[in-house]
Amino acid sequence: MHHRKISLTIDGRRVVSEVEPRMLLVQALREVFGVTGPHIGCETGRCGACTVLVDGQAMKSCMMLAVQVCDVEITTAAGLAQDGVLHPLQQAFHERHALQCGFCTPGMLCAAVDLLAETPRPTETEIRAGLRGNLCRCTGYQHIVEAVAQAAPAMALQGI
Ligand code: FES
Ligand code: FES
Repeated sequence: MHHRKISLTIDGRRVVSEVEPRMLLVQALREVFGVTGPHIGCETGRCGACTVLVDGQAMKSCMMLAVQVCDVEITTAAGLAQDGVLHPLQQAFHERHALQCGFCTPGMLCAAVDLLAETPRPTETEIRAGLRGNLCRCTGYQHIVEAVAQAAPAMALQGI
């Protein structure tokens, strides 16, 4: 099968590579570009572990082909910290004990960034609805919801 060339930006880094036409975006991120933040869980769009931001929008990267994302900007959870300073959501997840095994966390953080961009001061119900595509087997969600609520004002303050 003929490889296709894609070029994109991942966490601020411009990358170019040849990929197989049928390669999933999450596979390309991990195997071609060495970005291991997005995890592979269900590969059928149900768990959200593979969620990344594609031009600012949370997308499940197991539901996209790598060739679909030419010339886009992808942000993974690892790219959220700026100059070594944790993103307010990362800080809040840490402080609120919103992760245990951490498998869901990169996807959860990306989904939460998108949620707060759309709804800067969400209610608990809105947070739960915004994150319903991201499953967590460990935390029971309460701490995640609290962490997102805690990060919201800090993000609004920083204009992010
Ligand atoms: S691995 Fe993509 S949604 Fe589960
Ligand atoms: S912290 Fe383990 S799946 Fe969410």
